[in-house]
Amino acid sequence: MVGRKVGIVGAGFVGATAAYTLALVGSCHEIVLYDIVPEVAKGKAIDIGQATSYSSKGTIVTAAHSPSEMKNCDIVVITAGVPRRKEMTRADLLMINAKIITDVVDNIKKYSPNAVILCVSNPLDVMTYVVHKLTGWQRHRIIGMAGALDGARMAYQIQKKVGYGSGQTRAIVIGDHGQHMIPYPEISAVGGVPLNQIIGKTDMEDIIEKTKEGGAEIVKYLKTSAYYAPGRSISIMVEAILDDSRIVMPSSVLLNGEYGYKDVTLGVPVVLGAKGVEKIIELELDEEMKKRVDISVNSIRENIDILKKEGFFD
Ligand code: LAC
Repeated sequence: MVGRKVGIVGAGFVGATAAYTLALVGSCHEIVLYDIVPEVAKGKAIDIGQATSYSSKGTIVTAAHSPSEMKNCDIVVITAGVPRRKEMTRADLLMINAKIITDVVDNIKKYSPNAVILCVSNPLDVMTYVVHKLTGWQRHRIIGMAGALDGARMAYQIQKKVGYGSGQTRAIVIGDHGQHMIPYPEISAVGGVPLNQIIGKTDMEDIIEKTKEGGAEIVKYLKTSAYYAPGRSISIMVEAILDDSRIVMPSSVLLNGEYGYKDVTLGVPVVLGAKGVEKIIELELDEEMKKRVDISVNSIRENIDILKKEGFFD
């Protein structure tokens, strides 16, 4: 336990909720929060630290006033970035967030050179690609968090529909963390029972639609992005890496020939362990699924190409 240190860059709702969940479960020894607004990191670190008084395992929660104070982390979670505002084009947003990630990555390379990086900033797959390019690290050390969240959202919709299977529903979502994500009912199950044996076609379509709209539905009510399910999804991945537990979790990873693609990030099932990505699982896809994956890959590539055109990688 000692020495297991998690840095979280961005102490907004998502970063702080991830820290809170990790601290409650007691999965690491130390959590360091950093935010561009130091007071936010400080206030939340104190609050979360005090919440651990009632946990069985103590977690030290601190705030880094400057990036140099977030040192020697085993895992760094990047949640930094701005949401899209009305006046911004998608290219504007991409450039702004890619620049934010550039500074973050520079500091991680300097101060936590052996870390595994968990990228949560949006657009998720593109920012994960940016982290790959900027670090130049081996690809198993950089993982985008999306499938954990989208799968949780799909499981929620399944349980709502059938009315049972809490804690037993395993829903798989692959592809991008966006418009073309691919909820995959054929390999999802409730207590091991395949979904097509308990859910009809129309209900399944409804589940798929609601899963894809999962993030937007919350924005509609809260006027801000979700954070409880994202926070928990981050912590489940962090725990798997720290514990070397080797769970299978769809995550955004850099492909190098898997599924027939290279030099692009995509959400696919991977094994999470101490190295980060221990293994990429290559599912056998039918023709229909291959087409959907292709659409998803192209949507990510379009955005990567915008950054290339703007000269970001030069
Ligand atoms: C969402 C954001 C956190 O899907 O990516 O809610």
